[in-house]
Amino acid sequence: MAVSTAAGYQSPSVTVASALPEQRAASSVLIVPVVSAGDDDGTATVVDSGLLGSESIAEIDSALAALGAKGGAEQVTRVVAASLPVDSVLAVGLGKQRDEVPAETVRRAAGVAARALSGVEAVLTTLTALDLSAAIEGLILGGYRFSDFRSAKTAPKDAAVAAIIALTTAPDADAVAGRAAAIAGAVATARDFVNTPPSHLYPDEFARRAEALSEAAGMEVEILDEAALTEQGFGGIVGVGKGSSRPPRLVRLIHRGAPGQDAKTVALVGKGITFDTGGISIKPAANMHHMTSDMGGAAAVVATVVLAARRQLPLNVIATVPMAENMPSSTAQRPGDVLTQYGGTTVEVLNTDAEGRLILADAIVRACEDDPDYLIETSTLTGAQTVALGARTPGVMGSDEFRDRVAALSQAVGENGWAMPLPDELKDDLKSTVADLANVSGSRFAGMLVAGVYLREFVAENVQWVHIDIAGPAYNTSGPWGYSPKGGTGVPTRTLFAALEDIAVNG
Ligand code: BES
Ligand code: MN
Ligand code: ZN
Repeated sequence: MAVSTAAGYQSPSVTVASALPEQRAASSVLIVPVVSAGDDDGTATVVDSGLLGSESIAEIDSALAALGAKGGAEQVTRVVAASLPVDSVLAVGLGKQRDEVPAETVRRAAGVAARALSGVEAVLTTLTALDLSAAIEGLILGGYRFSDFRSAKTAPKDAAVAAIIALTTAPDADAVAGRAAAIAGAVATARDFVNTPPSHLYPDEFARRAEALSEAAGMEVEILDEAALTEQGFGGIVGVGKGSSRPPRLVRLIHRGAPGQDAKTVALVGKGITFDTGGISIKPAANMHHMTSDMGGAAAVVATVVLAARRQLPLNVIATVPMAENMPSSTAQRPGDVLTQYGGTTVEVLNTDAEGRLILADAIVRACEDDPDYLIETSTLTGAQTVALGARTPGVMGSDEFRDRVAALSQAVGENGWAMPLPDELKDDLKSTVADLANVSGSRFAGMLVAGVYLREFVAENVQWVHIDIAGPAYNTSGPWGYSPKGGTGVPTRTLFAALEDIAVNG
């Protein structure tokens, strides 16, 4: 069967220019940052990037004043400015004036601006003078739309933005812009996977799409089907997948970026439950459709390893991605069943809805057979993550030092992961009366941490590891904000890639 043609989001093209064009560009908008200057009441004032003449700045400022624009954070105001070679100017607020504007402020402002546009051919922007990468990421991600399943009746006629012209005089602008566009493209790939409905994205299809992307990037791919998984003892993946007519897979995507050299090896593992009904321990109907996002970790891992290959990162990255659909049926596993995880640990499955840890434990043991220096695993693992940290803050657990390093990188890229502990005593909650472990604790306490403690049992001794719980952050169920639309967010793709880049440089 051919891989179905999934178009996904077509990212705008990105080019760099050191000055505004001489000729007016058709269907063009200039996005300029404004701050709220002056006293309490604030007046929107264009941030002087050195890229616009003082006359044009004065023209925009007075148009904004006439409209009473205040320049508050993420406020957008559209004006015309006859002195500029664009159809209109979109002023986007950064809030109070300050010396250093954080990258995330620029990224969100760019995202809000892109969301306010539709059918624009060319977007020019001076946000780039504040932070070139953040401006490009914000524009591409804010303009993200997913229309694969809209017919002509409801499909948007135009992309938000077809082309981005980044105004900047920075000498390395081409390289910086290329990297930012590649990262944003990977986030969009992860979003496309999450937004593809479970009718169309099931384990075999997900595996084939991951394979197609990886092969196009020149990577090695291995896919284990259900027969191979059974034969090789992947009891967690087989157990979770056996209630579904659509059998599970284990996908391995390999980027060898430094052959023959003494480079680090990083294992990536991502939860790929293409739909989580809960299985026999079935979930309530309300909001069950959100469980289309239960492969958000796998989506980010696939997008990241492909990005690492495209960017030719000088390290080895091996993604191990378990994929299964958690369904109730007469062939499904039962509460009380015992399965054997890959590597031999036996588990009493007290709750079939705690399925993520079962497929991940197999994948973690397999990933550790490659002797990685680091292992980064991410998953929409527990509702308890949102109880503890809310919908936008991933929980980061694992080896103390590496956990803190990854959490700091996650903060730096604006995905805002936060370090959480794995208290030893929680292991007692996972005692089983019949097997080595139970898959859930009997207590309601610290559900996110208990899941992390379960996973820790399967990580090899000398491997520095982190577990990133993205149950809330992977999928935006409320309104659009910043550069995050409703639906798949692509989190934590940028954290994963930042960790790979950091390891490539610092070991
Ligand atoms: N996929 C869910 C976790 C989840 C919840 C993701 C909400 C996104 C949003 C996971 O498989 C699950 O069902 N976890 C259970 C664990 C419990 C049975 C110990 C949960 O959180 O209720
Ligand atoms: Mn579940
Ligand atoms: Zn799940």
